[in-house]
Amino acid sequence: PRAGVLAGRRVLITAGPTAEPIDPVRYVTNRSSGKMGYALARAAWQAGADVTLVSGPVALDAPTGVRVVRVRTAEEMLQACRQPFDECDLAFFCAAVADKRPAAPAGRKLKKGADDAALERIELVDNPDILATLAAGKGSRVVVGFAAETDDVVDNARAKLERKGADLIAANYVGAGGAFGSDENLVVLLSAQGTSELPYGSKDDVAAAIVRAAADMLG
Ligand code: PMT
Repeated sequence: PRAGVLAGRRVLITAGPTAEPIDPVRYVTNRSSGKMGYALARAAWQAGADVTLVSGPVALDAPTGVRVVRVRTAEEMLQACRQPFDECDLAFFCAAVADKRPAAPAGRKLKKGADDAALERIELVDNPDILATLAAGKGSRVVVGFAAETDDVVDNARAKLERKGADLIAANYVGAGGAFGSDENLVVLLSAQGTSELPYGSKDDVAAAIVRAAADMLG
C-alpha cells in the first residue's frame, strides 16, 4: 500500500464534459477539457488512494495507477459511477455534465435541406443530476461537488452545496485565466463550516489542496 492522507481509501472522480448526440455526427457539449478532474485523480493517487476516474470525451492520457472508465453521455456517466460510488469513501464530481440532452437523437445523419426542420429546432430534455442522485444515498461517504460560475460565485456555489447534498463545493471563477480549458484555476472551498479561498495556481496545486481538504473531512 502507498502512504499518504488517502492511503487505503477508495476515491471516485468524474471529469470532462459529456457529449449528447443529436445524430451520429453531431452532439451538444461544453468547454471542459478534463484537466481539473485528471489533476484530482493524480493528486488522489499520489495521496495513496485507489482511484476510479469516470471521464467524458477528452484528449488526455490516463494518469498513472488510475482506473479510467470512458463514457460519452450523462446517462452513461451515471451508470458508470454507480458501482465505484457504492465502493468509495470519497467522491469528487468535477465533470461538466450537460444539463440537457436532445430528446430524440436521430439514428442517421440529418441532412441539410431535407432535415432542416429537425436541424433548426432541437428539443432538449433534462439529464440526470449525477451528483444529486448519488449524494442522496451517500451515507458516511464524503462528497465533493464543483461549481463553475461567472457571477455571484460564492452565493451560487453555496446554493449548489445545499441543493445537491454535497459536503464540500469547490467553486471556480470562470473568466480571465481560469476554469474551463486552462492550466490554472482560482477556487473557493465552501462547506457547512465556512468558506476559504485557495491560492491561485496550477490545477495540480489546486487539486492537491482540494484533496487535503476533503481528506480532513473523512471520519
Ligand atoms: O475540465 P477543465 O477544462 O479542467 O475545467 C474544469 C471545470 C471548470 C469543468 C471543473 O472545475 C468544474 O467546475 N466542473 C463543474 C462545472 C459546473 O459548473 O457544473 P454545474 O454547475 O453544472 O454542476 C454542479 C455540480 O453538479 C458539479 O459537481 C457537477 O459535476 C454536478 N452535476 C451537474 C449536472 C449534472 N447533470 N450532473 C452532475 O453531477
